[in-house]
Amino acid sequence: MKLRFLALACSPRKNGNTAVLAGQALAAAESAGCSTELLHLADYRYAPCRACDGCFPTGRCVLQDDAGLIYEKILAADRLILAAPVFFMGICAQAKMLIDRAQQFWAAKYILKKEVIPGIKNRPARRGIFISCGGTTMPGVFDGSVQVVKAFFKMLEIELSATLCYAGVDKAGDILQKAGALEEVAETARKLCIP
Ligand SMILES: Cc1cc2nc3c(=O)[nH]c(=O)nc-3n(C[C@H](O)[C@H](O)[C@H](O)COP(=O)(O)O)c2cc1C
Repeated sequence: MKLRFLALACSPRKNGNTAVLAGQALAAAESAGCSTELLHLADYRYAPCRACDGCFPTGRCVLQDDAGLIYEKILAADRLILAAPVFFMGICAQAKMLIDRAQQFWAAKYILKKEVIPGIKNRPARRGIFISCGGTTMPGVFDGSVQVVKAFFKMLEIELSATLCYAGVDKAGDILQKAGALEEVAETARKLCIP
């Protein structure tokens, strides 16, 4: 069976740098025979977590919006490419809002002692990569985002195989001038095609 790649392009700029890199990763995966799907979070509507604890009794979020659909796809994927820019020294709000909605899986795992990923034992090990761009070259500019992504991937039982972060990339399209970036992303995605 083909490995299923899902890329989440989290930037509100659908033609932005991180979206270009997400597309590059998927193109490489598709060439290597994997199935791929790209979602732009900008096309979806979802609310932030309300901390209502409504997920505690069931392990399911009580909010009815597009986050449910996105999470169905995340749970089904074998490979996750999370591509999100730095906004104010952290991961962009579009990504963070979605990530916080994973509280339902925290409830399932730690309160209800349930399996988070359906049938995980009979599936390929889940792996993924985090891709980011920041406009500046400030020290530590990606640190906050990487901490968030580590916690998110762990919650969803995805091994974080690589973090590919490009500093000094600001205007949409700047990533095309960043030496080696496209190749590095493609090569990393190809490595994820090995089950
Ligand atoms: C609201 C906002 C906040 C930003 N904050 C930072 C920042 O703290 N540090 C930084 O290096 N770049 C910052 N940037 C620049 C973006 O990270 C940069 O333009 C990046 O290439 C955007 O990726 P995208 O094209 O995929 O949207 C910010 C941009 C926006 C719109």
